[in-house]
Amino acid sequence: MSAAVNGFGKVALLMGGWSAERAISLKSGAAVLEALRAAGVDAHAIDVDHRVAYVLNEGGFDRVFIMLHGRGGEDGSMQGMLEVMGLPYTGSGVLGSALAMDKLRSKQIWLATGLPTPEYVVLETQQDCERALQQLGLPMIVKPVLEGSSIGMSKVEHEAGIAAAWELATACGGKVIAERWISGREYTAAILNRRVLPMIRLETPRQFYDYIAKYEATDTRYICPCGLEPAHEHALADIMLAAFDTVGASGWGRVDFMLDENDQPWLIEVNTAPGMTDHSLVPMAAKQAGIDFGQLALEILGSCDGRKA
Ligand SMILES: Nc1ncnc2c1ncn2[C@@H]1O[C@H](COP(=O)(O)OP(=O)(O)O)[C@@H](O)[C@H]1O
Ligand SMILES: [Mg+2]
Repeated sequence: MSAAVNGFGKVALLMGGWSAERAISLKSGAAVLEALRAAGVDAHAIDVDHRVAYVLNEGGFDRVFIMLHGRGGEDGSMQGMLEVMGLPYTGSGVLGSALAMDKLRSKQIWLATGLPTPEYVVLETQQDCERALQQLGLPMIVKPVLEGSSIGMSKVEHEAGIAAAWELATACGGKVIAERWISGREYTAAILNRRVLPMIRLETPRQFYDYIAKYEATDTRYICPCGLEPAHEHALADIMLAAFDTVGASGWGRVDFMLDENDQPWLIEVNTAPGMTDHSLVPMAAKQAGIDFGQLALEILGSCDGRKA
């Protein structure tokens, strides 16, 4: 299939960038590049730096596949630049990208629209730490609101641990929140062009699904199909799609959530440009739905055209 036949024209695949998730983005980008090229797409990798607008302009590209994770690529700034340049791009628009990147504002919107997300306290002062201990109890989780890949996050199990957790998260920049700890099971729902793909259950012997469990450990388990009754999974899928929509996300992405001991769902976060290596979660869910990696990459590329937000 030639570029002209598949209608996508010359495609820029943005990867790398300068966020803390650069290394993961390069891996995702390499996998997507191979798949798009194998499908006959005229795709070109661009390792993004601050000259990206110039590179895109000079290259005469027709559309952009955003495979950047984290700040600078997944947070609306790249999307805004592409809007100004008039270049169609994959995934969420400016607003959805920016809101989903911000875990605090995502939670505020979900709470305002009646969607369930764990109670939280913003940590700005020592008094806030004390209030968090009183209000949320222990254990709790402390996280930077603008980071990904579990970077800067800690489970706090003793009162004395909150100071170090706050400091670690603060070093990432941006606001920091403490969240009520949900004990139960963890899941993720991949979304592809308004379809919720089969959910994946994540299991780790570690304290939580941290950076090591995500990218290094060999004992993290990914269970798909996830073992929920089909009717239960369908009901949850409606909540996950609503969570995705209310933060203004579109195209494709992933909603992370937990089920507590009473099977009550709790929204954790939305990822608008999640990992796309051959063992990442969205490709795993797609495979379960009968969509191979190549088809998935093409469907995401097609999502440039459907954005309303
Ligand atoms: N409220 C919570 N209770 C228990 N575990 C949590 C909670 N929030 C996050 N986690 C754990 O931390 C991991 C990373 O948190 P998440 O908010 O998804 O950040 P990231 O953007 O880094 O993936 C989750 O996958 C989950 O294992
Ligand atoms: Mg997550």
